[in-house]
Amino acid sequence: MGGGCRARAPPAALRFLVAHAMLLCAAGSAAAAGTVNPCCYYPCQHQGVCVRVGMEGYECDCTRTGYFGANCTSPELWTRLRDLLKPSPAFYHFVLTHFRWLWDIINSTFIRDTLMRLVLTVRANLIPSPPTFNSQYGYISWEAYANVSYYTRILPPVPEECPTPMGTKGKQQLPDAQLLAQRFLLRHRFEADPRGTNLMFAFFAQHFTHQFFKTSGKMGRGFTKALGHGVDLGHLYGDNLQRQHQLRLFQDGKLKFQVVNGEVYPPSVTEVPVHMVYPPAIPKEKQLAMGQEVFGLLPGLCVYATLWLREHNRVCDVLKQEHPTWGDEQLFQTARLILIGETIKIVIEDYVQHLSGYFLSLKFDPELLFGQQFQYRNRIAVEFNQLYHWHGLMPDSFIIQGQEYSYEQFLYNTSMLMDYGVEALVESFSRQTAGRIGGGQNINANVLGVAVGVIEESRQLRLQPFNEYRKRFGLKPYVSFQELTGEEEKAAELEELYGDIDALEFYPGLLLEKPQPDGIFGESMVEIGAPFSLKGLLGNPICSPEYWKPSTFGGATGFEIVKTASLKKLVCLNVKKCPYAAFHVPGAAAGTHSSRAGGASTEL
Ligand code: HEM
Ligand SMILES: *[C@@H]1O[C@H](CO)[C@@H](O)[C@H](O)[C@H]1NC(C)=O
Ligand SMILES: *[C@@H]1O[C@H](CO)[C@@H](O)[C@H](O)[C@H]1NC(C)=O
Ligand SMILES: *[C@@H]1O[C@H](CO)[C@@H](O)[C@H](O)[C@H]1NC(C)=O
Ligand SMILES: *[C@@H]1O[C@H](CO)[C@@H](O)[C@H](O)[C@H]1NC(C)=O
Repeated sequence: MGGGCRARAPPAALRFLVAHAMLLCAAGSAAAAGTVNPCCYYPCQHQGVCVRVGMEGYECDCTRTGYFGANCTSPELWTRLRDLLKPSPAFYHFVLTHFRWLWDIINSTFIRDTLMRLVLTVRANLIPSPPTFNSQYGYISWEAYANVSYYTRILPPVPEECPTPMGTKGKQQLPDAQLLAQRFLLRHRFEADPRGTNLMFAFFAQHFTHQFFKTSGKMGRGFTKALGHGVDLGHLYGDNLQRQHQLRLFQDGKLKFQVVNGEVYPPSVTEVPVHMVYPPAIPKEKQLAMGQEVFGLLPGLCVYATLWLREHNRVCDVLKQEHPTWGDEQLFQTARLILIGETIKIVIEDYVQHLSGYFLSLKFDPELLFGQQFQYRNRIAVEFNQLYHWHGLMPDSFIIQGQEYSYEQFLYNTSMLMDYGVEALVESFSRQTAGRIGGGQNINANVLGVAVGVIEESRQLRLQPFNEYRKRFGLKPYVSFQELTGEEEKAAELEELYGDIDALEFYPGLLLEKPQPDGIFGESMVEIGAPFSLKGLLGNPICSPEYWKPSTFGGATGFEIVKTASLKKLVCLNVKKCPYAAFHVPGAAAGTHSSRAGGASTEL
């Protein structure tokens, strides 16, 4: 390296001088260490790609962006027209969450399909497929494509050696992550989610996403252990073949289990010696063996692990009935595809339906995309992982059948699952309100450290500023912290710490944005999160024309199980007495159609 020639982010006033000194210094050495990389300014708009050219120059590649000019800022004619006619995200969010009578009519017409197709294509089109960059490669490369140990990313990292940590805007030093968390994220008083989201939803979110968010400890941030990059149910079957084989019974396609009090539960680690993360004090016979290493953390995760285990074995029975000639392997593999289908169905029609608050009745129907250009593939992005840290959902304590449990009693509590049983826990989780995710100051002290970790990771991986992500996902960048938070006090503090709204970081931006009216979080979480989510769900191979047919699922019966899955059925077909099971507390003013997931126990 150029030794003393290396400039380390000089203060703005000195930059001119230093730049010149560097030019002299760099003469003869190829590295123009002193000149500011012009890509640090993020000059290329509308998804144009910034490439450094020569010693000080850059080019924006505007190919197929619909714009031209040095910075991809001049719209082509049709782009101008489209932008003129296109309503803002705020507008269509308003329409989708109002006029219930209108949506009740639309729900039973072909317009529902048309709109659902539009939602899917518009959202999924924001995700590059095949994937592009990763934390090591800020340009297209074969390694970034082929090495699936990396999380991908939508925007390349902030170039090395920019004048400030976020590019050219903001201060030389980012605010201390611990301080940010303490001041802006720490909960002082529990704020309930206004839409009535419950803990059943929160644990589903955590359980579901931990099949594809498995940041590698060994390889470092930016790498994942979940190489399936999507809904592969690795959290049930293990993320590799060896673990899967340990978890399988090798009889009738089933998974190993234990029976306690006449109920089926995951086996203990003594019976199935897979690696599980538990505190060392907990004896092996109390540790449960599950697909995901960390699910011992919470009884809420064990409940879902138990439900899906029972569902798998139940589906195996159904399949065996219809296919008495099938061996263990085919029963197992087919059951797995059915459970993947069930998961996607539940996520779209119960989970996302609830989360969105839309009155449009969402529909899981892969055929909607058969006439469209759509790639059946997916790669999990580091930005998706960052934004899904929804620890604000967690309450201050956990109420099980009227009994209150602290974090200390609840975390890694290995007896609670079997003490209460699945029914009682589902009922209790479904009746307890979760916290609001957005709006700030709503993360319980016990999990605040995770938020600190998210911010530190984003610095290590050099995530671009929040406003650059806003633009990338078709949103207007915020012009001030006041506009972001919708108030004055916190905005002023943020301004003081960051210096510039264009230097605000991704995760703080998402959490501190003013929530939508009666919403669980702000516009950006929806507009940035939904594309990743829908692309991941519909990009699954089972949704492709080759796979989406009865034979893939063992015939009409299996196909029907997929097409009619719901949270309620997942619970009630696998317990003796059907509890209240939903993603919102009883009576919450959730979207019209979310009754799919709850209500009376007779509608099965
Ligand atoms: C009491 C409940 C919870 C505790 C104690 C907890 C704790 C943790 C911890 C210790 C990590 C690892 C942080 C790191 O690697 O630096 C983590 C990661 C994560 N948590 Fe939570 N969490 C809880 C609930 C939730 C919930 C409800 C969600 C909802 C989606 C969630 C989403 C995530 C995600 C997406 C990650 C990243 C996982 C990865 O990349 O491997 N967590 N959490
Ligand atoms: C392009 O962006 C750069 C950096 O933001 C700016 O200095 C330049 O004036 C812009 N050029 C045009 C043609 O808009
Ligand atoms: C929405 O419409 C579909 C199809 O017409 C119907 O099956 C479903 O019951 C309706 N859902 C609600 C909750 O209105
Ligand atoms: C992926 O990249 C990492 C980091 O360079 C490397 O350690 C790993 O071996 C690569 N994986 C494969 C399968 O090549
Ligand atoms: C675990 O939960 C049970 C109730 O199921 C409770 O009695 C017990 O005290 C809890 N364990 C710990 C270590 O707090």
